[in-house]
Amino acid sequence: MSDAAKLAAIPTLVNPPADFVAQANISGMEAYRALYQTAVNDPGAFWGGLAEKELDWFQRFEKALDWQAPFAKWFQGGKMNVSYNCVDRHTKTARKNKAAIIFEGEPGDQRIITYQELHRLVCRFASSLLHLDLKTGDRAIIYMPMIPEAAIAMLGCARLGIPHSVVFGGFSAEALKARIQDLEAKVVITADAGWRRGKEIRLKDAVDEAVKSCPSVESVIVYKRTGCDVVMQQGRDHWWHVLDETAREDVEAVPLDSEHPLYVLYTSGTTGKPKGILHTSAGYLLQATMTMKWVFDIKESDTYWCTADVGWVTGHSYVVYGPLSVGATTLMYEGAPDTPAFDRWWRIVDKYAVSIFYTSPTAIRALIRQGDHWPERHKLSTIRLLGSVGEPINPAAWEWFHRVIGHNNCPIVDTWWQTETGAILIAPMPGATPLKPGSGTLPMPGIQPQIVDNAGNPVDDGKEGYLILRTPWPSMLRTIWGDPERYKEQYWSKVPGAYFTGDAARRDKDGYFWVLGRVDDVMNVSGHRLSTMEIESALVRHPSVAEAAVVGKPHEITGQAVCCFVTLKKGIGDHEKLGVELRQWVAHEIGPFARPEEIRFSEALPKTRSGKIMRRLLREIVTSHTVVGDVTTLEDMNVITTLAAQHDED
Ligand code: WTA
Repeated sequence: MSDAAKLAAIPTLVNPPADFVAQANISGMEAYRALYQTAVNDPGAFWGGLAEKELDWFQRFEKALDWQAPFAKWFQGGKMNVSYNCVDRHTKTARKNKAAIIFEGEPGDQRIITYQELHRLVCRFASSLLHLDLKTGDRAIIYMPMIPEAAIAMLGCARLGIPHSVVFGGFSAEALKARIQDLEAKVVITADAGWRRGKEIRLKDAVDEAVKSCPSVESVIVYKRTGCDVVMQQGRDHWWHVLDETAREDVEAVPLDSEHPLYVLYTSGTTGKPKGILHTSAGYLLQATMTMKWVFDIKESDTYWCTADVGWVTGHSYVVYGPLSVGATTLMYEGAPDTPAFDRWWRIVDKYAVSIFYTSPTAIRALIRQGDHWPERHKLSTIRLLGSVGEPINPAAWEWFHRVIGHNNCPIVDTWWQTETGAILIAPMPGATPLKPGSGTLPMPGIQPQIVDNAGNPVDDGKEGYLILRTPWPSMLRTIWGDPERYKEQYWSKVPGAYFTGDAARRDKDGYFWVLGRVDDVMNVSGHRLSTMEIESALVRHPSVAEAAVVGKPHEITGQAVCCFVTLKKGIGDHEKLGVELRQWVAHEIGPFARPEEIRFSEALPKTRSGKIMRRLLREIVTSHTVVGDVTTLEDMNVITTLAAQHDED
């Protein structure tokens, strides 16, 4: 079949396979609708009932929700512990010898950790934290490869009520430093290095660089992963395995308030400074738990694999907290999908009989490019459910995922959510919802998204508008760490009284949601959020750069790519050399994953008469190579003419 024929053959509506419906947690649309309606009728009773049933409590809560907009408190009066819910409670059941984590390292090493063993490891690590004098309320930074110790560190912190912030291993020392400082972390948990494409990603070196200017850090814990040489500073740095020698195994989970901070995850916003998104305990865990059941249809016998890194929110909710809360087996793979060859992921699916596979459209597109012979070499028939997250999934990627990986009989759950929402808010229930490829379909129970215009009025079905939410949900962000004003301003002021997602969307006549992408200065590169302002601030810190404007440019594989327009200080000549240097500079300032695809030098940038850079026009240039939008506020039309002409010469 030609590509065009394949695309034309994608059905507009894909019903769930009958055998899937028959075994599903939520079976058939009637069941979905009934559940949804129960939540609409009485959200407090709905979530309260689930919280009681699905979570283990040390002390029962008194009230489901206390809503002083835009600040929510869920399950007040209750005492619980996330680590207890993810680990201890399963050791009291037949799950005690079930695999909690299946790990495969990039070099091929393998570990299978049962719930009982996980309990032991988490207790021992919590004991090490206590030994270093860490207390409930102190903060920890986790900067680790994708190894079980990353999850163990998270759960160890949660056990003691030490809020953690996981920093993706692809972030540079500079980015790490900013996060440690903002959180005023007392401990940094890291590894010597991790494996990626056969190379060592040296994490401890970056920590050394970062903590030079972080006076809050008293200790650094280092897990030995690759065995590379690292410098250990006496008194400050401790090997994980040495602390472990004297660790105890009877460290009880601390009973914590429902609203005790669980973690802060930094994400790009519309300014140069990343936002520390705060998630708390009970509400967050409840919604991660429910979506595991509703969206991933999780069963006792599943081997569940979400390919996200723990450094992103998907890794928090759907590699660690969600799967472990429901007592599932969660798979972690350390390395790159193409190491040693492009079938590494399919080899892993085959080897461990993975049944649920959750990944991103970017990864799918990159794998399509390598050809079908890679997946065809392996047995993928254990897969019963596929998932997608991070960006809208395009028809070609959907079709391939469905046919080549899912053998045309696995539902694909296209899950829409954000770092801020904590858990999936719009997605199909795979045994109920008929799919429309490219749509996240319908909202989860308890979630009532709306699409509105600039004035906050609902738009008609079929029309594009802003995606907003008017009512609180348990796993919503509580604030921006240390900056409640910014929280109000960023999320609750664009449409007064409503949570602004920053996404444009439309709803079709069947009530299905189609998320179209960001409407703010946030780019989505490979499903990773990057702020144009953050990259601009990095560029202007370079001594040769006078001004910079950054826009997302459409990209076949990564969705968007980073394109920078730069004006230089007077007398700086060699563009070619500087282009290479600036790309490297951004990788150094933020991290290799933020490295710009393109640097364009320009004599001037398009500005309004009041001096604001008109990124919208630059976006048009990189997208359609011309400017047709409104230019009446532009100060100097020549700038645009020159920039557009520059492209024609390329
Ligand atoms: C985008 C990732 C379309 C969206 C969990 C959102 C999506 C941003 C989807 C959040 C999807 C995520 N369809 N767009 N299924 N999932 N997005 O915070 O623009 O890294 O606002 O959270 O990714 O990215 P974040």
